[in-house]
Amino acid sequence: MMKRIWLITGGCGFIGKSLAAYLLEKQRRGGIDVRVLDNLSVGSEKDLFSMLHHAGRPEFRTGGVELFRGDIRNFEDCFHSVRGVETVVHLAANTGVEQSVRNPLADMEANVAGTLNMLEAARRARVRKFIFASSGAPLGEVQPPIHEGVAPRPVSPYGASKLAGEGYCMAYTRTFGLPATALRFGNVYGPGSGHKGSVVASFFRNALNGLPIEISGDGSQTRDFIYIEDIVRAMVLAAKAQCEGEVFQIATCRETSVNELAAAVRRTLEERTGIRTAVSFGSARPGDVKRNYSDITKARRMLGFEPLTTLDEGLQKTLEYFLREAGVTQRKDRAV
Ligand SMILES: NC(=O)c1ccc[n+]([C@@H]2O[C@H](COP(=O)([O-])OP(=O)(O)OC[C@H]3O[C@@H](n4cnc5c(N)ncnc54)[C@H](O)[C@@H]3O)[C@@H](O)[C@H]2O)c1
Repeated sequence: MMKRIWLITGGCGFIGKSLAAYLLEKQRRGGIDVRVLDNLSVGSEKDLFSMLHHAGRPEFRTGGVELFRGDIRNFEDCFHSVRGVETVVHLAANTGVEQSVRNPLADMEANVAGTLNMLEAARRARVRKFIFASSGAPLGEVQPPIHEGVAPRPVSPYGASKLAGEGYCMAYTRTFGLPATALRFGNVYGPGSGHKGSVVASFFRNALNGLPIEISGDGSQTRDFIYIEDIVRAMVLAAKAQCEGEVFQIATCRETSVNELAAAVRRTLEERTGIRTAVSFGSARPGDVKRNYSDITKARRMLGFEPLTTLDEGLQKTLEYFLREAGVTQRKDRAV
């Protein structure tokens, strides 16, 4: 049987390595090979292989995933890595609002020019499906729940660059017939996020280092927190569905304030380890929106997507990962 190759750009990062592990674990008998394009600016080869190892596939430590070290800002790298590929999941990006405010030009180069390079390479290689990781940021400060019908008005350069990426996906579908789909992820959390600056990751990191949980602003800002396994499932569903030229909100449709999240993290931590954590408040971050959660009706209808993990379950699994990373394996009834 001919091998079908999935290329994951940014595959050494948080979301990419979980997708790689899932594809290898669940779909190997379906004849899927995984290739990763990553410049290793954030993720590393070790991160990728330790995730695969943890997913019960130690043989992939030395192979199984083809890792191509390259940069999406370089067209030759994109062109080279996409050869023979059936499905591209384009995750490599500048991923932060804060970095985009500090350096909008660098954000544009990765998220706009890099995405265009990948689309053009995919078009030339006659790729069958292109999935683009977008976010809620293109929509900006609007009354939630946000949905695909809302006119985008980005607040941050990151929101603007992701919106441009969505625009190019639509244009490549309509002009060139490349089946591209944009998925607007909510705030993703879960195992593998140790390097992330996102709230869940930084709350656990601080708490386990004996530092207070630090909240930007007064904590009344809201987000839609989605567990990594649900995001991975959404990408796989979108790759299989007839949904070219479409954009989807991929989240849970639950609005959680950062204060509520902090309380849930503290509770999870105390129940599991006995650790009690203080909270401190800092200044609000520029470019951050006040309220954000998503209506996922369209993803339910067209992709059959349903988020399955509750926040409490997801936080428990995420804490286990952070404890493993910190080398803590015992429960609170023993020594921690
Ligand atoms: N994590 C979230 O909550 C979230 C939410 C919404 C959207 N997204 C989007 O999902 C995607 C993946 O996010 P993540 O959390 O896994 O990020 P991450 O930073 O963990 O991973 C990104 C990976 O891309 C690589 N990379 C960065 N620039 C590159 C370049 N120029 N060329 C090649 N590789 C490059 C990095 O080395 C890293 O391994 C991003 O596009 C992000 O904008 C993430």
